[in-house]
Amino acid sequence: MSRSPLIAPSLLSADFARLAEESQRVADADWLHFDVMDAHFVPNLTFGLPVMQAVQAVSPVPLDCHLMIEDPARWAPGYAEAGARNVTVHAEACTDDPRAVARDLRAAGSLAGLALKPGTPLEEYLDVLPEFDTLLVMTVEPGFGGQRFLAETLPKVRRARELVDTGHLTLLVEVDGGINADTIEQAAAAGADVFVAGSAVYGADDPARAIAGLRAQAAAARQG
Ligand code: DX5
Ligand code: ZN
Repeated sequence: MSRSPLIAPSLLSADFARLAEESQRVADADWLHFDVMDAHFVPNLTFGLPVMQAVQAVSPVPLDCHLMIEDPARWAPGYAEAGARNVTVHAEACTDDPRAVARDLRAAGSLAGLALKPGTPLEEYLDVLPEFDTLLVMTVEPGFGGQRFLAETLPKVRRARELVDTGHLTLLVEVDGGINADTIEQAAAAGADVFVAGSAVYGADDPARAIAGLRAQAAAARQG
C-alpha cells in the first residue's frame, strides 16, 4: 500500500485548560481528533461546537471530529460548517438513514465518517457506506481514553480493507481506542489507514516523537 498512514492524536488526553498549546504540540500530526461526548450516547461529557470552533481557529492540524452523541443528524453539520476536515457520527445513534447525514456533511464541506462500536457489525451498513469517506472502527467501547485495545475488532478492520482493496468501497479505515506502540502494528497489518491515539501521544514526554514513532511502526506494518 502506498498511501502513508495518518496519525490523529486525540485531544481527550490533552490538558483541557491549555487546548491551544496542546494542539500546537502535535503540529506534525495529520489530523487532530476531537471527541464530542454528550453524557447520553456515552457515559461521559466532554466539549461541543463552541470549543471545537475555538480549537479550529488556532490548530495547525485539521480537525477530525468524532461525535459520540445522540441525534447526530441535528448536530453534525455544524462541525462541518465550522471547518472540520472530517466529521464522524455513530451508526448506532442514527435514528434515520445515515446517508442523509453523510450528504449534509459533504454539502457543508467536510468528509463524512461513520463509526461502529465494537459490537456493531459492518455488514449491516454496507449499503450506506458508499456515501461515506471514512469508516471509524472503534477498538474500545466509546466513552473514555486509556482503555485496553480490543483485538477482537480486527476482523472488522480486515473486512473493511478487503472491501476497499477490491473496489467495493472508497473509504479511509480509521481505528480508535487503545492504539499505542504495542498495538498499532496489528491494526496497521489489518488494514487501517488512520490511527487515533490519545494517551499514547499526550501521555508521552515528547508528543512529536511519539507521533513519528507510531507513524513509522504503522508504515512498516502495512508494508510487511
Ligand atoms: C474513546 C475516544 C478515543 C480516545 C482514545 O471513546 O473515542 O478517541 O481518545 O484514547 P486512547 O488512545 O487513550 O485509547
Ligand atoms: Zn474518538
